[in-house]
Amino acid sequence: MKTLGILTLMLSLATASLSATGEAALHEHWKRPVDTGNTVSGPYPDSCARCHQGQYEDWKGSLHSKSVGPGLVGQLDIDIDPQTAISCYYCHAPVVAQSEVITKDDASGGKTYLPNGFFDEKLKSSGVSCAVCHLRQGRVFGPPSPNQADFKNGVKADHAYVQEGFFEKAEFCAACHQLDEGFELNGKLLVNTYNEWKDSWYGKNNVVCQTCHMPGRRHLFRGIHDIEMVKSGVSFEVERPAGQARASAKLRITNSGTGHYFPTYVTPLVVVKGFLTDAKRNVLKGTMKEALIGRKATLDLSKELFDTRIAPFKSFEFDYTVKRAPKARRLVFEVWVFPDEFYNRFFENALKDNDPTMKKQKLKEAFKNTSGSGYLLFKREIPL
Ligand code: HEC
Ligand code: HEC
Ligand code: HEC
Ligand code: HEC
Ligand code: HEC
Repeated sequence: MKTLGILTLMLSLATASLSATGEAALHEHWKRPVDTGNTVSGPYPDSCARCHQGQYEDWKGSLHSKSVGPGLVGQLDIDIDPQTAISCYYCHAPVVAQSEVITKDDASGGKTYLPNGFFDEKLKSSGVSCAVCHLRQGRVFGPPSPNQADFKNGVKADHAYVQEGFFEKAEFCAACHQLDEGFELNGKLLVNTYNEWKDSWYGKNNVVCQTCHMPGRRHLFRGIHDIEMVKSGVSFEVERPAGQARASAKLRITNSGTGHYFPTYVTPLVVVKGFLTDAKRNVLKGTMKEALIGRKATLDLSKELFDTRIAPFKSFEFDYTVKRAPKARRLVFEVWVFPDEFYNRFFENALKDNDPTMKKQKLKEAFKNTSGSGYLLFKREIPL
């Protein structure tokens, strides 16, 4: 079924654009499809790794290196529906040679798709790689004053390079982490991370995406999938009113260090739980209460079900009160993070469907990956 899930998103992607920064050079840098050209040693991440081992290893551990995974490939068929595939490549694989087809405007004002003679499967599967961000027409672009410590071993660059200030700006990331026009959900943009940042204290004080996601210029790009990263962005306080007959407590979750909404996308879901346990730590029946933090949408992205995300420096309060059972010994709070909640639901659904463009084996793999990605972020036991 073509209307399913994220696929509907593509209809609006033609309008995906950079925020106006007035920086023509940055705009030029992110013109799609990206024309990287080549370097002496090649455009692949492992060709850069020869001299930039540190960046390579950090990047390899990040999701940018996995952006052409089974979850993407499994739902695209370039022969049947090239338009959708290209709309996704815009962020997941934006280099000319990463696409099987090239797009040409035809005489009637429509589009035709021709086989791409420069298509490179190896480059495609490297996803958002070094070349995507750094290589243009055979020249390497990078930030001003590279850390010379990196190059002490006397290696000589086999590439020319151009220094650009925009590498140190949030607008650089907005090229893929902001979608301005087109798809909106309940009157709000679907992908709005850059604007959330810009309107926050961080945006006003120039604490850029790189400060948190590339500390010391490291290529970590950690986010909601990384427990330590998430712990650095949220804090917890428990309050317990004294001397009461009922079992009651309040958990306050504050977005204390995330430079945008926690979480920013519709994909994750955070589940807050409160319950009572007995002396053996068994959960007492009827005492479980839950609250959800996130922006939950239906699979076809036609409807927002709720939006309880926490803006920077704001809090979410979870009030827990139940009748105190005689057996109760502890009141417990738990906070669980499901980074792939939306996609997990999406893959499960797509597997039941009979859409011929969907590749079942890949989707099974993606379903399996996203089923095990949840983790316990916080737990507090309060003796009663
Ligand atoms: C043969 C070794 C070698 C290879 C291969 C290599 N580099 Fe470099 N690169 C260097 C050296 C050395 C420097 C530092 C040059 C200087 O400061 O004079 C450098 C500098 C850089 C910079 C910093 C430029 C700036 O202005 O901040 C970036 C970014 C970069 N390389 C990216 C890449 C990418 C991407 C690849 C793969 C496509 C790559 N390099 C392949 C050796 C290499
Ligand atoms: C060419 C497009 C592109 C650019 C530019 C880009 N990203 Fe990404 N980013 C992606 C895609 C696509 C993913 C998702 C990869 C996946 O999981 O399939 C992603 C994932 C991430 C994640 C991981 C999210 C998670 O769920 O944990 C973080 C953090 C991130 N990007 C930060 C940044 C920052 C910071 C910058 C700027 C320095 C940046 N990105 C620039 C395309 C891009
Ligand atoms: C504006 C940039 C952008 C576009 C366009 C885009 N994505 Fe993504 N996609 C992302 C980012 C960023 C993430 C990571 C979200 C997160 O971790 O919360 C992501 C995550 C995903 C994931 C889950 C992670 C994975 O790799 O399995 C899938 C699947 C996916 N996108 C498929 C698609 C498809 C299919 C399209 C085209 C219809 C598409 N995306 C278009 C930016 C984009
Ligand atoms: C999503 C975009 C993105 C990808 C992918 C990426 N980089 Fe970078 N890189 C950046 C940005 C942005 C900076 C500047 C960060 C800053 O100044 O805070 C940078 C900086 C660098 C520097 C200068 C480092 C220094 O300490 O001065 C080198 C070298 C480099 N990158 C190499 C690589 C290599 C090699 C890869 C692939 C293994 C890679 N980059 C992948 C965005 C990217
Ligand atoms: C003050 C630090 C900080 C700044 C600035 C910041 N982030 Fe984050 N970011 C975080 C933390 C902490 C998380 C993990 C919690 C979460 O997922 O919200 C995160 C998560 C993410 C994710 C994971 C997806 C999700 O749903 O949360 C993406 C993508 C991301 N950031 C991109 C960006 C981009 C793009 C910018 C700049 C426009 C940026 N961040 C600025 C700290 C920061």
